[in-house]
Amino acid sequence: MKKPKWIVVTHGGAGSSKKVLDAVTLAARTGMRMLRKKNSALDAVEEAVVVMEDDPRFNAGTGSVFRIDGTIEMDASLMDSEFHCGAVATIKGVRNPIRVARKVLESPHILLAGSGATEFARRMGFTYHSPVTRRALRRLSRVQGWLRSGRLPKYAHKWKSYSLDTVGAVAMDSRGIFATSSSTGGTSIALPGRVGDTPLIGCGIYAGPCGAVSVTGVGEAIIRQVLSKSVYDKLVAGRSASEACKWGISLYDPSIPMGIIVVNADSGAGASNTGMPVCILAR
Ligand code: GLY
Repeated sequence: MKKPKWIVVTHGGAGSSKKVLDAVTLAARTGMRMLRKKNSALDAVEEAVVVMEDDPRFNAGTGSVFRIDGTIEMDASLMDSEFHCGAVATIKGVRNPIRVARKVLESPHILLAGSGATEFARRMGFTYHSPVTRRALRRLSRVQGWLRSGRLPKYAHKWKSYSLDTVGAVAMDSRGIFATSSSTGGTSIALPGRVGDTPLIGCGIYAGPCGAVSVTGVGEAIIRQVLSKSVYDKLVAGRSASEACKWGISLYDPSIPMGIIVVNADSGAGASNTGMPVCILAR
């Protein structure tokens, strides 16, 4: 069978509703348009994620959930198979954390966090943007109600009550370079300063000469398995994109929402143990 020239796979988060599939598809089409115009896989995964960060239905960029103290902190990262990588953690007040992560990638550093990340963004020309939405405010008031009443959902059996809908993309360009990206507002019941898998290379994302991986779900569970690198290693061992996704999901109890997207030179694939809107486009 003829190998595809370009591939883009996007997801709208483990546990997200199918109702956001329109934006997940628009994100993938945006990525494909970039590739058709001879942009890099890195450009494609950045622009795909920007589409979802700008859609207030996702927990990324505008629409990100609040921490329990009523602040919004966002994480984002991207990487390509030539090992260029950049990430931001707990950044505040920017419209597109993924664009700041791209600027970090172009700097001598890989990960900037907290006030340093926000200050870096301002110096790079990213003006203040409030990511607050009515939906996130409603969620904050529900969570603060839980906390006040002492009915905080417990880890491992009520993860589905957390907000997890991270967004992500993987792509292959016409040069055979792979790239991956991810962006999130984190989980909605979290302390300020909490960092999940998304900005950690090897956990939320990984790319190398055999393909690219982006994952979504409970950050703490993903970090323990160094999930993206572990799934990538299955590609190195010769497994297909679909087999690698399924293997990654099999590591988790079904009560822990988890989703994985993968691209290699043959195909793109996605798998999840819960609802996860995915779009796979190849040409
Ligand atoms: N996977 C997103 C997070 O846990 O922050």
